[in-house]
Amino acid sequence: MSQAIEVVPTGAALGAEVRGVDLRLLDEAAFEAIHRAWLDHAVLLFRGQALSDDDLIAFSRRFGELDWAPVQENGRRFVEGKPEIYIVSNVLGPDGQPIGSLGAGEAVWHTDMSYLPMPPKASLLYAREIPPQGGDTHFASMYAAYDLLPEALKARCAGLMVKHDGTYNSGGFLRAGVTPTDDPRDAPGHLHPLVCRHPETGRRMLYLGRRRLAYIAGLPLEESEALLDALWSCATRPEICWTNRWRVGDLVLWDNRCTMHRRDPFDPAARRIMHRTQVKGAAPPAA
Ligand code: SIN
Repeated sequence: MSQAIEVVPTGAALGAEVRGVDLRLLDEAAFEAIHRAWLDHAVLLFRGQALSDDDLIAFSRRFGELDWAPVQENGRRFVEGKPEIYIVSNVLGPDGQPIGSLGAGEAVWHTDMSYLPMPPKASLLYAREIPPQGGDTHFASMYAAYDLLPEALKARCAGLMVKHDGTYNSGGFLRAGVTPTDDPRDAPGHLHPLVCRHPETGRRMLYLGRRRLAYIAGLPLEESEALLDALWSCATRPEICWTNRWRVGDLVLWDNRCTMHRRDPFDPAARRIMHRTQVKGAAPPAA
């Protein structure tokens, strides 16, 4: 029998909690309802889940083929035999090496892996251990960011491409194998349209990626910086954001095409362990 799924919107510009569901036991009708809710609300929260890595991978695969996780800052893979699993954690393993990435500091606003030509369309983050305070994750709607732009700024963005930097991850750590530069024009990364059209909802959205070392192709550097500053001041306004205050057993699924997220810092002496998967996406289409 299909589970009686309840979708409760957060009341913010994005996000909904999905109640009455055990993600290990989904039939097709329940999955369809979740998929619809994900497109409608961009971020979904499922509380009280009990997921092994295999369960997380199995649920994630219902959205499509999975990406392999990027390697850790120290070049190692996270979970032997499960290349789809990325661990976000500050915890050290028995060998004294971090078991995950991003440490305990702030993870700045970003879209996952958008420095690649085909960034993931979905990310799924499951809370195994959380600190008593801090480590909250904030999400911003890039549909709302676009809608909020003054008309003159919308017109200014038309046809422009922005470079999404691949030098640093959101925790500020240098990615494995990259030589850093301070000049955004020389930084590694990929150019995407500044304004994209969501391939499934058809809605226009701002596609910024991350601020550090971003560059708008073809503009003098000062002009690129000024335009990016103007766009970023709209893109992270509190009225287009929603925050998850994590509990153990939370699974958060976000549409990585039309959202950005950031994480608050927390006490480095506390433990935070999150397991993440990502669903393969396509090149973001220009609006
Ligand atoms: C991430 O940026 O993907 C991780 C967010 C978090 O740790 O809450």
